[in-house]
Amino acid sequence: MSSSTPMPEIRVFPTAEEAEISVAAELGAQLRAAPASVLGLATGNSMIGVYRELVRLHRDEGLSFAGMTSFNLDEYCGLVADDPSSFAAYMHLHLFDLVDADTSKLHLPDGNSAEAGAAYEASITAAGGIELQLLGIGRNGHIGFNEPGSPQNSRTRIVELAQRTREVNAADFPPGAEVPHHAVTMGIATILDSRRIILLATGAAKAEALADAMSGAVRPENPASFLQTHPRVTLVCDEAAAALLPAQLRG
Ligand code: GLP
Repeated sequence: MSSSTPMPEIRVFPTAEEAEISVAAELGAQLRAAPASVLGLATGNSMIGVYRELVRLHRDEGLSFAGMTSFNLDEYCGLVADDPSSFAAYMHLHLFDLVDADTSKLHLPDGNSAEAGAAYEASITAAGGIELQLLGIGRNGHIGFNEPGSPQNSRTRIVELAQRTREVNAADFPPGAEVPHHAVTMGIATILDSRRIILLATGAAKAEALADAMSGAVRPENPASFLQTHPRVTLVCDEAAAALLPAQLRG
């Protein structure tokens, strides 16, 4: 990292569950302070505990999602609308159907339209931009579905999934089902336009990509490394994911 690079705020928790609860608390605080917030939402196993805690905050502590506008990062191409392996189904299962969200304000990119990228960008802009973007990280450094090689100026578009990503994500599909080869994803530039970013990384499988993203060269080969150029990134992780972070980053 050069001396001009903004330092991310880093919070390391002993367990994944504590990291997930901390991220949910941050999102909850955002919604309480500004109920009409525009949030960028993510999927993946890492986020399940975040949404579980947000649902608990709604049920037990009156957190409302009624004013929230949301934009999800990505979606597979080629799945029918109610496919249980879609990210849309994931969001309904883990969050949208369990809280008081206004369905007219919830957005996922359309994986079945080649022209959907520009429309998605336009709707984010029309909503005033994303205040707080939640992000996970792939084992190869992908953010959203921006696989290695994604340029910094990329916008919402259809991408080809890396073989490694398809293998990892096969667990989210029925045995024997073909994992889609393509997906639609917000681009790196779309993500970097968010005013604040929280990156949640848990588990030892993320340690290498995470350390490289935070302290290696900023380059398309590790898409998460572009987060080094953003002024307001908070990294929330467990000890296992943080294991390879340079000591000076952990403070
Ligand atoms: C998925 C998603 C990403 C997610 C990442 C990590 O494929 N497209 O948005 O952050 O890969 O997923 P997980 O949390 O399951 O490790």
